[in-house]
Amino acid sequence: MLLHGEDGPLRLIDFISQYCQTVFFWVLLFIPFVVCQVAEFISIDCGGISNYTDQNTGLAWISDAGITTQGKAIEVENRNGDLQQYQRRREFPADDKKYCYNLPTEERRRYIVRATFLYGSTDNLGTYPKFELYLDATKWATVTVVDGSTIYVKEMIIRAPSDAIDVCLCCATTGAPFISTLELRQLNLSMYATDFEDTFYLKVTARVNFGAPTDDSIRYPDDPYDRIWESDLFKRQNYLVGVASGTERISTSKDIDVNTREYPPVKVMQTAVVGTKGRLSYRLNLEDFPANARAYAYFAEIENLRSNETRKFKMESPYVPDYSNAVVNIVENANGSYKLYEPSYMNVTFDFVLSFSFVKTPDSSKGPLLNAIEISKYVPIASKTSIQDVNGLKALQAMSPGSLWVEDAGDPCNPAHWEWVICSGTSPPRITKISLSGKNLTGIIPSELQNMDGLTELWLDGNSLTGTIPDFTNLINLQILHLENNRLSGSLPPYLGNLPSLQQLYIQNNYFSGEIPPALLSRKLIFNFEGNPKLTQGTQQRAHLKLIVWSSVAALAVLIVMIFGCLLLLRNFRRKISLPKSNVEVVSLRANSNPSTGSLGREGHFMDEVTCHIKLSEIETATTNFAKNIGEGSFGPVYYGKMRDGKEVAVKIMADTSRQGKKQFATEVALLSRIHHRNLVPLIGNCEEANHGILVYEYMHNGTLRDHIHDPIKKKKLDWLTRIRIAEDAAKGLEYLHTGCSPGIIHRDVKTSNILLDVNMRAKVSDFGLSRKADEDLSNISSVARGTAGYLDPEYFASQHLSEKTDVYSFGIVLLELISGRKPVSEDYGAEWNIVHWARSLIRKGDIVSMMDPLLVGSVKLESVWRVAEIAIQCVELHGASRPKMQEIVLAMQDAMKIEKGTDQDSQNISPGSTKAQSSRITLLTSFLEIESPDVSNHSIAPSAR
Ligand SMILES: *[C@@H]1O[C@H](CO)[C@@H](O)[C@H](O)[C@H]1NC(C)=O
Ligand SMILES: *[C@@H]1O[C@H](CO)[C@@H](O)[C@H](O)[C@H]1NC(C)=O
Repeated sequence: MLLHGEDGPLRLIDFISQYCQTVFFWVLLFIPFVVCQVAEFISIDCGGISNYTDQNTGLAWISDAGITTQGKAIEVENRNGDLQQYQRRREFPADDKKYCYNLPTEERRRYIVRATFLYGSTDNLGTYPKFELYLDATKWATVTVVDGSTIYVKEMIIRAPSDAIDVCLCCATTGAPFISTLELRQLNLSMYATDFEDTFYLKVTARVNFGAPTDDSIRYPDDPYDRIWESDLFKRQNYLVGVASGTERISTSKDIDVNTREYPPVKVMQTAVVGTKGRLSYRLNLEDFPANARAYAYFAEIENLRSNETRKFKMESPYVPDYSNAVVNIVENANGSYKLYEPSYMNVTFDFVLSFSFVKTPDSSKGPLLNAIEISKYVPIASKTSIQDVNGLKALQAMSPGSLWVEDAGDPCNPAHWEWVICSGTSPPRITKISLSGKNLTGIIPSELQNMDGLTELWLDGNSLTGTIPDFTNLINLQILHLENNRLSGSLPPYLGNLPSLQQLYIQNNYFSGEIPPALLSRKLIFNFEGNPKLTQGTQQRAHLKLIVWSSVAALAVLIVMIFGCLLLLRNFRRKISLPKSNVEVVSLRANSNPSTGSLGREGHFMDEVTCHIKLSEIETATTNFAKNIGEGSFGPVYYGKMRDGKEVAVKIMADTSRQGKKQFATEVALLSRIHHRNLVPLIGNCEEANHGILVYEYMHNGTLRDHIHDPIKKKKLDWLTRIRIAEDAAKGLEYLHTGCSPGIIHRDVKTSNILLDVNMRAKVSDFGLSRKADEDLSNISSVARGTAGYLDPEYFASQHLSEKTDVYSFGIVLLELISGRKPVSEDYGAEWNIVHWARSLIRKGDIVSMMDPLLVGSVKLESVWRVAEIAIQCVELHGASRPKMQEIVLAMQDAMKIEKGTDQDSQNISPGSTKAQSSRITLLTSFLEIESPDVSNHSIAPSAR
């Protein structure tokens, strides 16, 4: 009764048995679930035009037309199959607002929340949307569309924090936010409970059905909870690659007892992969990792083992000391029914690339088996705006039906706060200001406002408010209260005079009556109550008037003093900044060069104002009349020299005395004297005598990175860790140029020959000859894009539009050179002559080894190479907006270094192409292993974990 692989023999008896079981199942499972489960499913077809029942699943879909009025329904051109829910999508404006769906939940019940996205158009301009998805105030995912016909699925497992959740879209960096479907699935009781659910949601990263018969995923009704179990045959980039040889697919039609904690569907457990040569291994990229995760493996014996056969195996990687001894021993149930075994890690740290492998123990006769895995990332829950504030705002929204601002939904503060409120930066956020001047509010001021004790300003003027001022005694932080130009009446409550923070009170043009509370008149307050004919001012009127006059005089005086102060400051400032601008030859030098503390601020460092000429004669002596040429800079030769104090220097001569050349010289001098960072080559001084423009730099002993990569002898110094560190150093230097200086600076000529290595092989970026400030007038663009062939950003080349991402592209090429040891342009790469196309096609195939410098293969961890390759490929994306920032590159290099250093004692030399190479180990920074042992009942021999 066993189906071997996909095309194994299916005998009649099998068929009958399968049929009967299926029928049995539908009677047993489907009917009760239709009644109970489906009722608790919410399936929204965003952009859909009608409600309907899906013929395949029996699920009821509702159109979102009755749920939201925002955005518009867009017909999808490139449909994915005929599924009705993907005929249209709802698209929202690309503005700085957020757009939300509110879903009812039962507090503390667990749910799957799933949003899917099918863009469905081939975009000629190639700019697909990229935007953020939030669950309440918690960032859920960045939706990045790279293919118009792919359905992107984002899934979160939550314990509902209240009686509703908001799913919000916002913050598009390209295109407009959109959504195709939104689904809410209630889970059963303790499913997916974790110790961390008060503070973390679980974002599903991978849920894989191994040994699946087709590449279709399995979901409802096979899975009564409608989880999506992706087939291991489904092809995605860098997903489930590196499969060990001898891996075979098996399946059964027999029932499996899945009464474990997570109730995976029987159909998923009925298929598996087995390592017939004793090993199972896979590698996959985990989106948004490194992170802490919850990870499950599902094992169920589905082969009929003979009495002398055993199946015992253990996990070899990821390497967890606790787990390395644990042997999974799946024994067939004596009754002939199969039992599921479901070990899990409650909290394990995974890197971006996960390699895992199971190997059989020496005394086992069968190889390892795997039915499914599930990996979810812990996502910290961001606090929502405090509930009393939300209630106050909702009460205000109820007072002006039909206005646009009352449609604001989701959390008032995060992400993207509502336009008419200001939030504190605290956790949870509080509302500090409400601005509803002239917004057509009618009715009485809602009493809910009295609990908004974070308020400092309340603007309700110019509406049609009626009734009296409610009790605001709690608003102890309130400083400014605007109620003028309404139809408020009644007397002024006495407590107003005692609000501790109140500084300004405006109530003019209302119908207030009675006597003004004396406290309001005697305290220091800007108080305007004109246009309230029935309001009487008692005996203290004069005092009050006096106060107003005095405060006005005082305010005027302060204003005058401030204006004077500003003028003075401005004058000083002008004088200061005009100094270096006109005097290019006056180059400043840091008096004591001690820049390498690493704690540089975000501002560009201005050097100490010590002017320094290095005399031509001094330079001639130092270089013994320019005897030793050590290279070519962007505008002339470079010579070696040794100053009198023994300091070794590199001396750059400006050969080009044309205006253009002089301008470049001036630019470089101005830039270099402005900035200082340990990953930028420091300028020591300059000289402009006898029509020579000369720059003196610190000498970098190990020359350029280019010389090292492409020289067979020098290359030996470049082991993998050194390469990553060089990349990190250079990336830090560029990051500083982009963000540390104000305005930011774009290098424009990033390449391996502009990355210099000091005596310790630490890298510094050099040659700012072409640099320009990020905000320089771009209407004056020179007609030719500047830069070096092979490194030149194609987007910049085509559009002439320069940005930091131009440097990022070039840096991507540097990274590819570091990985491959190859030149950026060469005929070896086939028709395109270009390293980018070559690298991209290898990476798509998951073949990192063919891309690596042969010198590295066998001595490094593939995961760390992957980490670098991954970011390199992002850097050379066609569109600048899709490329990472330098800061992300720095982080990626630090990750790669951690991975590479990780478990050094375990790193074995691996030979290319062997299965070992595919299963190299992964660093586990922290780990906590939890093995859930199933109950030992009479009918089953329990799998053991020892
Ligand atoms: C997981 O373990 C780490 C390290 O022990 C800890 O910092 C973290 O809070 C734990 N839980 C989650 C959900 O990350
Ligand atoms: C207020 O209401 C009037 C009439 O109903 C309308 O013309 C006006 O546009 C509204 N103003 C705002 C700000 O909503």
